[in-house]
Amino acid sequence: MQIKELAINHRITSLLENNGISELFPPQIMAFETGVLNGKNLVLAVPTSAGKTLVAEICMMKAILEGRGKALYLVPLRSLAREKYADFRKYDSLGIRTAMSVGDYDSPGVRIREADIIVLTTERADSLVRHKVEWLNETGVIVVDEIHLVNDPKRGPTLEMVLAKLLKAIPNVQIVALSATISNAEDIAGWLAAELVISDWRPIPLAEGVFLDDQISFSSGKRKIIQRKRKEDSADIVCDILDEGGQALVFVSNRKSTVAVARRLAPSVKPYLKQDTQERLAAIAKRIARKPSAPEASKNLGRLMMSGVAFHHAGLDNTERAFVEDSFKQNLLKVVVATPTLAAGINLPARRVLIRDYRRFEQGRGSLPIPILEYKQMAGRAGRPKYDQYGEAILIARSEQEQNFLTERYLLSDPEMITSKLASPEAVRFHVLSSIATEMTQTRSEIDDLVGKTFFSYQFEREEIDFHISSALSYLEEGELIQTDNDKSYKATLLGKRTSRLYIDPSTTILFRDALTGTKSISQLGMLHLICHSIDQPTTYVSRAEIEDYEFFVDDHISDFLVDFPDSWELSENYAEFLSEVKTARLLIYWISEKSEIDMTEDFGVGMGDIHRYVQSAEWLTYAASEIAKTMNVKHHLADLHTLYLQMKYGVKEDILDLVGLRGIGRVRGRMLSSHGLKTVADLYHVAVEELARIPTIGTSVAESVKRQLGIEIKLQDQETEDNEYVDDSLDSIQTLLEDFEPKDF
Ligand SMILES: Nc1ncnc2c1ncn2[C@@H]1O[C@H](COP(=O)(O)OP(=O)(O)OP(=O)(O)O)[C@@H](O)[C@H]1O
Ligand SMILES: [Mg+2]
Repeated sequence: MQIKELAINHRITSLLENNGISELFPPQIMAFETGVLNGKNLVLAVPTSAGKTLVAEICMMKAILEGRGKALYLVPLRSLAREKYADFRKYDSLGIRTAMSVGDYDSPGVRIREADIIVLTTERADSLVRHKVEWLNETGVIVVDEIHLVNDPKRGPTLEMVLAKLLKAIPNVQIVALSATISNAEDIAGWLAAELVISDWRPIPLAEGVFLDDQISFSSGKRKIIQRKRKEDSADIVCDILDEGGQALVFVSNRKSTVAVARRLAPSVKPYLKQDTQERLAAIAKRIARKPSAPEASKNLGRLMMSGVAFHHAGLDNTERAFVEDSFKQNLLKVVVATPTLAAGINLPARRVLIRDYRRFEQGRGSLPIPILEYKQMAGRAGRPKYDQYGEAILIARSEQEQNFLTERYLLSDPEMITSKLASPEAVRFHVLSSIATEMTQTRSEIDDLVGKTFFSYQFEREEIDFHISSALSYLEEGELIQTDNDKSYKATLLGKRTSRLYIDPSTTILFRDALTGTKSISQLGMLHLICHSIDQPTTYVSRAEIEDYEFFVDDHISDFLVDFPDSWELSENYAEFLSEVKTARLLIYWISEKSEIDMTEDFGVGMGDIHRYVQSAEWLTYAASEIAKTMNVKHHLADLHTLYLQMKYGVKEDILDLVGLRGIGRVRGRMLSSHGLKTVADLYHVAVEELARIPTIGTSVAESVKRQLGIEIKLQDQETEDNEYVDDSLDSIQTLLEDFEPKDF
């Protein structure tokens, strides 16, 4: 079937044809035959790369052009959000505007309300619901990409709750859910009252095999001999595909391994680079290293990229990630070594995917084989229609026995069933509070009705969650986050409402409230430790070698801590957690003491992206603490909290807060100005622009910008234009920051 035969505006079909899409894939035809273009709900559970997005896109276009409303496109990961956003911008020429919003802060975006398509992370969508953003009612269609992630213990509950809330708030909204192939797709379809399309058709053949000794045995029975020139499995498997002119993606289980494996591959990959590719990679490496304070990790990345290999994990910052993804897509990089953050939905030119690690360490459970579903997602990055004619996914075995196990488990078995993970006390209290705070539910029966719309209620007996709802209600009432009228109707207190909008866990509010109301003065270390003690703050890991150092640190600062110490006897899990909190608090202290980011990555053994994640999350929680103090009317902590918040925001000591309020002046330039005697904004009035420009790190354009901000006229240079007008990517917070978290490195 030709795309132009579809019952949609021909401008859309012409645009798609100009983008190389003229024939529909069989699963796409099946999808359109369900009546999805007339507004029916759809669950599309088909293999990786079978073109699910296009079906969703056409449904969105249809809804927008028919005036049924806006389209929300929900994704689990930021890399995926960026890819979809960039892709949907092709509709700009038809006057259809796409926006992306991947933060989940307290302040909903403004411009996104003008957009027709809004690409959102799940948590951001939840946050918009909590703010009762009025344009949500104008939504005509909601696309849920990677819906099988309702199975994820950490983020699944939010996904199903946000869908339940949206279904309740917008009763006639159309749902188009895109899923990997799973064993019980009919459960998802039943839950969403949707038509179901299942297929095992893939546009590009994907061969799956296991490597042992010197050959790959594919599930089809075919075998392939690999030249053992380098005597190292990964290098030989990777170079074999480079010999054919392909590119390779290697999945490993943790961040450290991404760097180690990339390093080991570099000498073998470098000879495959042509002269001009080398030059272009060198230019990119320079740009990565040129960032104001490129830490060692970025330099490493730059150096490796010059050999045609890069690593990719959640510790990279957004620009580094974009550089890696784009250079791989442009065939400059031949190999990327990644953690599973790159496993979902992304289109990459990887002809061969090597899944080097099929085991993963799980806290308290040891090293376990990953689920089949996860393996299939990684394997599915190989052989994407835009880039390759075929794809291969390879696992590595060390013995015949292991080879049989891998073939059975991953190549020949169907993915697992997915199940709701909503029945957890944390998830239930978090979402019950938000539904009461937004007045979406006021009585127990209304709460039951909302929970009745979840995947959980579809799959399980309701008694199994009743208990969690009752405990959540008592917990929230005892914590004074909600009240009851005549034992019947629930209302959120001011503090409860604030908690819901701040998007923090009720236990965090209670922790902060008790500390703030019960203590006269709190040191910065004490406050930062309290933040790190909350369930909302990610913390870093303390290695065995560091334990003693942190024990001394705790002894030296004993009076700062506000929480009871767990017993150190035999190094219990609680004690290890406590030390992790202390280490993270110390990292935050370094940040506001203007320690360089390079030193911090070394001192704490973390990546640049990690530092940003800890800092941004703690910044948000400091703000949350000050909002809680305001709500409780405990005025004596307010000034200190406000100062701490600004220090976190800018990463500076208190004395230059005035200077860093200026655009273009951050922690490095601020300190530089101060050390040249310019200690306040007032001092800047009296210095000539030329003199200002001569101060190291400042330069003419910053000097002129500063003067302009002070209202002093100078010759105007070209004004910078904002090119990402519809991107609301500035606001990152706790939940979003957790999105790309992989298991900790051990
Ligand atoms: N009818 C078509 N003709 C040609 N190319 C197509 C067609 N439909 C989709 N594609 C292309 O196929 C590629 C894969 O599509 P898409 O990303 O939607 O896959 P997917 O089903 O979402 O896979 P995943 O499960 O990995 O997310 C994209 O590059 C897309 O442009
Ligand atoms: Mg997809």
